[in-house]
Amino acid sequence: MARTFLSCVTVFCLLILEVTDVLTVGKPVNRACVIGAGYSGLAAARYLQQYGVTYTVFEATRHVGGTWRFDPHVGTDEDGLPLFTSQYKYLRTNTPRHTMEYSSFPFPEGTPSYPSGTCFYRYLKLFANKFDLMKNIQLRSFVTSVKWAGDRWNVTYMKTDTRNNHTEQCDFIVVASGEYRLPSWPKIEGQNLFRGNIIHSHDYKEPEPYANRRVLLVGAGASGLDLATHLSNITSKLVHSHHLQYNQPNFSPTYVKKPDIKEFTSNGVIFQDGTFEEIDDVIFCTGYEFDHPFLEQTTGVTSTGKYVLPLYQQTVNIRHPTMTFVGMSKGVINRVMDAQAEYSAALAAGKFQLPNQETMLKMWLDHVYYLQAQGKKIVDVNLIGNQMDIYFANLTSEAGVVRAPPVLTEIRDFNAKNRLEDLLNYRDYDYELIDDKHYKRWYNKREGFPCPIQDS
Ligand SMILES: Cc1cc2nc3c(=O)[nH]c(=O)nc-3n(C[C@H](O)[C@H](O)[C@H](O)COP(=O)(O)OP(=O)(O)OC[C@H]3O[C@@H](n4cnc5c(N)ncnc54)[C@H](O)[C@@H]3O)c2cc1C
Ligand SMILES: *[C@@H]1O[C@H](CO)[C@@H](O)[C@H](O)[C@H]1NC(C)=O
Ligand SMILES: *[C@@H]1O[C@H](CO)[C@@H](O)[C@H](O)[C@H]1NC(C)=O
Ligand SMILES: *[C@@H]1O[C@H](CO)[C@@H](O)[C@H](O)[C@H]1NC(C)=O
Ligand SMILES: *[C@@H]1O[C@H](CO)[C@@H](O)[C@H](O)[C@H]1NC(C)=O
Repeated sequence: MARTFLSCVTVFCLLILEVTDVLTVGKPVNRACVIGAGYSGLAAARYLQQYGVTYTVFEATRHVGGTWRFDPHVGTDEDGLPLFTSQYKYLRTNTPRHTMEYSSFPFPEGTPSYPSGTCFYRYLKLFANKFDLMKNIQLRSFVTSVKWAGDRWNVTYMKTDTRNNHTEQCDFIVVASGEYRLPSWPKIEGQNLFRGNIIHSHDYKEPEPYANRRVLLVGAGASGLDLATHLSNITSKLVHSHHLQYNQPNFSPTYVKKPDIKEFTSNGVIFQDGTFEEIDDVIFCTGYEFDHPFLEQTTGVTSTGKYVLPLYQQTVNIRHPTMTFVGMSKGVINRVMDAQAEYSAALAAGKFQLPNQETMLKMWLDHVYYLQAQGKKIVDVNLIGNQMDIYFANLTSEAGVVRAPPVLTEIRDFNAKNRLEDLLNYRDYDYELIDDKHYKRWYNKREGFPCPIQDS
């Protein structure tokens, strides 16, 4: 792995290009274009508008809200596009809403600290309406190509109503196309022999079809743990294969924990410990890969399923600094996307000057060496994780974006631990911010999915 790392860095060093992008301090770019109208793209739209930049958002679907909109379609949507949302019924956020709220746009008082997915979707639509963003959002515009055309960007998209392709010029690009759409599938022996159903959690919609069935869940990330709580009482047997060390709750008498899978057979699965279980349905909760099929080589970014590089401040395309990425960082709260969106808008508006390309590259390499010293690998290059509060401070000192208070990082850290200690009950608490550094938390179990925001 260390070799891959070094050669990758070396290749990168050989490929420095001369920057021809036009970014002038004090002068906004003529036109910015945003790809995607989920949480990140809506944040970018709000700040571009606030900073006085002319902009258009291209959104593939007929809707804003991205992965927070529940869609009953599986695989492809009503317009034949790959289904972008991974939302399912009865979802509640796994992080307190305070870490997810846009800057200075809190949920109404009385909203549970862990609102339902439906409530979060309503919040996003409310935000779009409140800041009057819809007028600059072009729906049903599926971006298929972004290329550098010498002095600005050519963006090509397909209108899903006419199926016609259009190319438009943009001086600045914000990529906000999401990171949880393309399933990551493990390769497991014998999978083609298995006669039951296999899906990825991306395609999971609701627990009801699994009533009285023998279900195997693979993985214990956010989706795997969540689906375990949703399915344990309705299935006849829930087999959960994973290797997470955590305080496993008493899900139900029919819940069985298993180690990693060894192989599939026609009617079940053999695990690494040699045991066998008969299985009807398998749900792979094995996460997602990055996916940017529209980024042409001329963008200068190296983009794989696992990472995007080289990005300055985890946001700016160093080879073409008129392109930013919002929502690609790992190990962060949603508020980071809000900060990256404001940072992008401030850059497009000419509010601050980036270091020169060589300096940005040097800083990026310092980040890479720092990761390497911590035993991390190139796949972690988009990880912010425990550096999050410093990161917020850095964006603020460089570009003057509103400083996210340290208390959000405190809440994030507490929640991450608490969730693994008390999986079945951690959402039955409410949080309140006392000041920039402190919060309080108390037990407040509710029935159902209350949401004070009306659907709009
Ligand atoms: C099931 C699930 C639950 C989650 N729960 C939490 C949680 O509780 N707490 C938390 O902090 N985070 C959670 N997340 C993380 C979530 O990704 C963020 O909350 C946030 O929604 C990311 O927003 P985004 O705008 O970056 O991406 P998305 O919401 O994915 O939006 C991307 C948008 O871009 C559009 N798009 C994509 N490709 C193109 C294209 N080529 N052309 C035009 N438009 C395009 C899509 O249609 C979509 O509207 C969850 C994620 C998932 C999948
Ligand atoms: C960019 O688009 C314009 C207008 O459609 C076209 O004339 C030009 O050739 C394109 N440039 C590239 C590099 O594709
Ligand atoms: C639009 O572009 C896509 C490729 O991205 C192509 O498959 C399709 O045929 C084009 N549509 C038209 C009407 O030319
Ligand atoms: C399953 O149902 C029991 C009885 O209603 C309940 O106490 C328990 O919390 C449920 N388990 C989960 C994981 O929801
Ligand atoms: C914050 O900025 C300092 C100084 O430029 C830099 O060394 C550090 O790596 C940055 N940290 C993060 C998380 O951005």
